[in-house]
Amino acid sequence: MKKLLTYTVVVTVVIANLFCNYTTTPALERTEFVSLTDSIHYAGMNSCKECHQSIYDSYIQTGMGKSFEKASKKKSSADFSNSKIYDKFKDLYYQSFWNGDSLQFMEYRLYKGDTIHKRIETVHYIVGSGQHTNSHMVVTNGYFNQAPMTFYTQKKKWDFPPGFEDGHNTRFNRLIGLECMTCHNSYPEFVEGSVNKFESVPEGISCERCHGPGSAHVAEKQAGKLVDISQKIDFSIVNPAKLSIEKQFDICQRCHVQGNAVLRKRKSFYDFLPGMKLSDVMNVFMPVYSNSSEHIMASHAERLKLSQCYLQTTQKISADKNLSNQLRPYKNALTCVTCHNPHISVKSTGIDHFNNTCKNCHSEGKSMKCSADKKLLESKQNNCVSCHMPKSGATDIPHVSVTEHFIRKPISEKEFSAIKNFVTISCINNPNVEQLERGRAYISYCEKFELGKMALDSAKKYLMTKHQMK
Ligand code: HEC
Ligand code: HEC
Ligand code: HEC
Ligand code: HEC
Ligand code: HEC
Ligand code: HEC
Ligand code: HEC
Repeated sequence: MKKLLTYTVVVTVVIANLFCNYTTTPALERTEFVSLTDSIHYAGMNSCKECHQSIYDSYIQTGMGKSFEKASKKKSSADFSNSKIYDKFKDLYYQSFWNGDSLQFMEYRLYKGDTIHKRIETVHYIVGSGQHTNSHMVVTNGYFNQAPMTFYTQKKKWDFPPGFEDGHNTRFNRLIGLECMTCHNSYPEFVEGSVNKFESVPEGISCERCHGPGSAHVAEKQAGKLVDISQKIDFSIVNPAKLSIEKQFDICQRCHVQGNAVLRKRKSFYDFLPGMKLSDVMNVFMPVYSNSSEHIMASHAERLKLSQCYLQTTQKISADKNLSNQLRPYKNALTCVTCHNPHISVKSTGIDHFNNTCKNCHSEGKSMKCSADKKLLESKQNNCVSCHMPKSGATDIPHVSVTEHFIRKPISEKEFSAIKNFVTISCINNPNVEQLERGRAYISYCEKFELGKMALDSAKKYLMTKHQMK
């Protein structure tokens, strides 16, 4: 059956290619990718490396390439000279240290100078490249838990992990489930039915999280079957550049909006693959406030989507068949990939690259120009990003500084700190979300985020509407 399926897809692709040779516009019948069929499996990053060495070399230097690894002195970004923290609510001290090559956290309590409680745990994995933080995981018989110490690299400081502060220290008991793991890593082998037990976990987000399972691609290229990728789409592997803007955006959006992810019926955190619509697998909700100045850390996709630069350029492409049929439709829009080459870290990208992207659209004869005072512009060396994409703190993670991706006219201090009121929840990846899904989202908000009775009332409203419609 699987063979038949692959065969059908291959034939479809071949036929699609045949047809395209007769059209004047290039081969843009966007058929199914072979990587979306069941028979295709993950080939692993080392196999991609064999033929794409230079991409591999730069990718493993990025935050995504270094997102998850076994704890080691090489991996750790932490400074151990001042590694003691104190929880005044539970009267517990924590200290991190190396015991040979083993990273250990000691929890202890003092009574008149006596150590009356002592617990030492070994840290097995570090999550976070260290561009902002290192968080730590302890594994017992395959069960993953988060340890109660995080190193914040921008402030060079040990503190509690987000959510452990102010009396909420769960010590070594916070469960690390699939939701967390699948944003920070390649897909792991999970023990179904458990909450946090893994058979094995990979080390870092690999190529195939953005390109899809690659076994067919590897086999075809090894067999010498080539495609002219300057003109065509190679359907053996997903090149996000050649997807529709929506599907390209969905790849980044899968991980770059940490909202309330509500899985569709019978779907799991494994099911999204590049080339699919994210809303077929999950809907991600976030609260909307009357003042949208502050943001959480992992919200780049949601913030960018508020920007006129994004909205107007992507709407234009969706509405114009000629533009959306091009080999790389995103080239006329502002998506993540317009500014970021994910194989290269922002740290080695250089600010000119980002500013030139702005100027591609905002210059004489194109979209409107900057209306700020000339002297003001010069005082900032015409650095568009410094005024329009300022860095600031995040509401959910302490001691970090992240880049605002809502591009707009700069707002004043007063506007920034205006009181914000909860308005509603909004689905980030699906503008036409069904009533029932919205109801389920409110229920899940009650469970996860303490929106309280307000959310229950809303859940009832949407669930009842659905019920009455039947
Ligand atoms: C045996 C060599 C080989 C291996 C292994 C290999 N590739 Fe490729 N890949 C190629 C060649 C050659 C091309 C360009 C020509 C083509 O697609 O036929 C290519 C093209 C691509 C493209 C561009 C497709 C397009 O339509 O623009 C992507 C993306 C890609 N590879 C990703 C990967 C990933 C991810 C892996 C690991 C799972 C991988 N490759 C493994 C040889 C290889
Ligand atoms: C929806 C996907 C998603 C989920 C779920 C998620 N994160 Fe993240 N997290 C991200 C993204 C994306 C970033 C990068 C944000 C940035 O660089 O501004 C991030 C940043 C981080 C960082 C900082 C990394 C660094 O140094 O830049 C750590 C540590 C972290 N998350 C840990 C966790 C842990 C632990 C969990 C689960 C308990 C979790 N995250 C859940 C997507 C997610
Ligand atoms: C975070 C997502 C992401 C990851 C991870 C990723 N890529 Fe890519 N890759 C992209 C995007 C986006 C493009 C399209 C870039 C463009 O053309 O603007 C791309 C393009 C490519 C291409 C087409 C040729 C080119 O130079 O543009 C190849 C080959 C490729 N990637 C290989 C790899 C390999 C090998 C790895 C792992 C070492 C990898 N990618 C990891 C997102 C990713
Ligand atoms: C599997 C989840 C996942 C996917 C898919 C993903 N990202 Fe990421 N991305 C992350 C996480 C997690 C981090 C933070 C990693 C860290 O620093 O520890 C990150 C970091 C980044 C960074 C900063 C890291 C650096 O060194 O520059 C950029 C830029 C980025 N992602 C862009 C993208 C783009 C563009 C796409 C879509 C083509 C994408 N990401 C897809 C999870 C993902
Ligand atoms: C208009 C250009 C532009 C677009 C579009 C864009 N970014 Fe960025 N991004 C930047 C700049 C500028 C920085 C800061 C670079 C630096 O620190 O030098 C940045 C930084 C980041 C970082 C590092 C952490 C941080 O917040 O500083 C991540 C992660 C990231 N972007 C993800 C994304 C994702 C995901 C998308 C699409 C939803 C996206 N970006 C779209 C310009 C852009
Ligand atoms: C792909 C083209 C494109 C790119 C790249 C782009 N923009 Fe825009 N931007 C637009 C369009 C289109 C508008 C809406 C113009 C209008 O309303 O007439 C816009 C609007 C704006 C506005 C006004 C927003 C408002 O709400 O009034 C600002 C400010 C802006 N862009 C700054 C930037 C900066 C800074 C960059 C680079 C970081 C950038 N843009 C990159 C296309 C782009
Ligand atoms: C010193 C800070 C600063 C820098 C640097 C800067 N801008 Fe602006 N920009 C502003 C301010 C302030 C406004 C709003 C001025 C006003 O009230 O009309 C603005 C307005 C804009 C607008 C909206 C224009 C309109 O007619 O509504 C665009 C587009 C824009 N900037 C793009 C850019 C681009 C592109 C660059 C880099 C070449 C840039 N800006 C550099 C501060 C800056």
